[in-house]
Amino acid sequence: MKKKLVVLTGAGISAESGLRTFRGNDGMWEHENIEDVCTPGALRRDPKRVMDFYNFLRKGLPEHKPNAAHIALAELEKRLGDRFLLVTQNVDNLHERAGSKRILHMHGDLMKLRCMNHPDHEFMFKGEETLETKCPFCGAGTRPDIVFFEEVPLYMDMIQNALRDCDEFVYIGTSSVVYPAAGFKNFAKRFGAKVTCLNLEIPAHDPDTDVFVQGKATEIVPKWCEEFV
Ligand code: APR
Repeated sequence: MKKKLVVLTGAGISAESGLRTFRGNDGMWEHENIEDVCTPGALRRDPKRVMDFYNFLRKGLPEHKPNAAHIALAELEKRLGDRFLLVTQNVDNLHERAGSKRILHMHGDLMKLRCMNHPDHEFMFKGEETLETKCPFCGAGTRPDIVFFEEVPLYMDMIQNALRDCDEFVYIGTSSVVYPAAGFKNFAKRFGAKVTCLNLEIPAHDPDTDVFVQGKATEIVPKWCEEFV
């Protein structure tokens, strides 16, 4: 039987490309207050502060290159075609730069902005967003295409359908504490998928996870992808 695979990635897959993870030692949320840069309230109170934070992250992206784990997933996608879906919590563009095409950025995309008035007006953006940046479709103001805490992640219908339908679900480089992504493993399991976790540290025991592989993403992901049939 030809298996269908859904992959979920988190910040750990980009760690060896030099991007900070969010939690743990020296994580992003040790350096920034979530309430200052990643909530709807922050955007209302001080939009410039929020825009500057994501401008800074966007500007830094070219320095970081996709690593062997991003590349292995892009190669696996070529092999599996429409039996493959990559869901990422990451807002960086390293998966795309490695060649991934069947990818959903459920927490948004640093390389895009969104219209303040129409959430479906989204567009690619490379420069520095300011209070003067306008939506190219309707002329309203813009915001980073980032799903803030308290907001609903993107593409949830598509993701749930894929999880229901897949034979195998693998989650990579995520602490599995932020919902709804943290619940995907349990949801996929309920619909019959085999569930695998690839991570540097073994997270809290999860009875629905069948296989844990511990190690650095650049070492364990290429091997796992190669062995996937
Ligand atoms: N290889 C594999 N895993 C790694 C590596 C590595 N080289 N380095 C770190 N990790 C693991 C850590 O052990 C940790 O379990 O990656 C995980 C990163 O966890 P978080 O920092 O919590 O990142 P993530 O799970 O992606 O966060 C989810 O939280 O703040 C929000 O929106 C943000 O999308 C993000 C969400």
